[in-house]
Amino acid sequence: MSLARIAGTGSYLPERVVTNSELEGRIDTSDEWIVSRTGIEARHVAADGELTSDLALQAARKALEAAGRGPGDVDLIIVATTTPDMVFPSTACILQSKLGVQQGAAFDVQAVCTGFIYALSVADRMVATGGHHCALVVGAEVFSRLLDWNDRRTCVLFGDGAGAVVVSRDGQHGILGTHLGADGSLGHILRVTGGIAEGAVRGNPFLEMDGQAVFRTAIRTLGESAQTVLQQTGLRPRDIDWFVPHQANARIINALADRVGVPAERVVTTVARHGNTSAASVPLALDTAVRDGRIQAGETLMLQGVGGGMTWGSVLLRY
Ligand code: ACO
Repeated sequence: MSLARIAGTGSYLPERVVTNSELEGRIDTSDEWIVSRTGIEARHVAADGELTSDLALQAARKALEAAGRGPGDVDLIIVATTTPDMVFPSTACILQSKLGVQQGAAFDVQAVCTGFIYALSVADRMVATGGHHCALVVGAEVFSRLLDWNDRRTCVLFGDGAGAVVVSRDGQHGILGTHLGADGSLGHILRVTGGIAEGAVRGNPFLEMDGQAVFRTAIRTLGESAQTVLQQTGLRPRDIDWFVPHQANARIINALADRVGVPAERVVTTVARHGNTSAASVPLALDTAVRDGRIQAGETLMLQGVGGGMTWGSVLLRY
């Protein structure tokens, strides 16, 4: 049986770093408050004119290089983003052009912070069945542009970035199970209502969040999703070598690891240096742990995301 496997990873963070102490000078907050509530120490912010597709391009090139592939090999591009360059063409089509890929399919997936997990699950089906051979799956966001930088309840939490993986077929290692969920009735707890209609933005263009409701929903849904995907594959929590959860908040990550049953030393946590980068967060964390040598070939990984919608999901794979 052929499996869809991750053959290479890459990531990119914009040059400009905004530290907690810089925010202390701009709004009524403190490094102590941000670190104790979220674990976040800094976030990266894209330069003027730097677009989601530009971040995606950097991450994609690194993932292709790690996989030993080039633009001529890619026959599927899926970009997970909530901050596309424009209404259309899709950011995936723009990325295809910037990469110089001239074949295959390209489309975006919008599931906010769960976007990469959704996109990877879709790519898994499209590659494992043999329809596509070399997929580029990217999570990329410029969330800084959805924030009211005077709203201390939200602006301290997010940042910009991109992460990418190359997915190809393999006889042994690969994606073992996936689980996706959504509950549209919870849309109001995390949303940006603004949209373009008749030449104007209608609704609030800035992110609105009920932080405590999001916290509770994240723990509940991801705990259940982990159990579902473990049951599906016949694996147990102790079989997970590395847990790579959505990097929203260190307190959510710690509570979740407890709930899933993975010890702290087996959890990849990178939120301190880039904050919540939405769809980019899981592939960013994955690439970090691959490049620093923690994640090794043949190990079992659980990837998880949760975000606006509300949406959530898990991918269990042998790397
Ligand atoms: N600096 C200082 N004080 C702040 C800040 C800040 N940046 N933000 C809020 N406060 C204040 C509030 O105004 C409030 O003050 P008050 O009591 O005088 O009104 C006080 O801190 C407590 O506010 P709460 O919102 O109750 O703080 P809480 O302990 O819930 O922490 C947080 C807020 C960190 C957002 C928490 O609810 C959380 O982690 N939620 C999860 C949400 C999340 O991670 N969202 C990311 C996007 S969602 C996703 O990716 C799935």
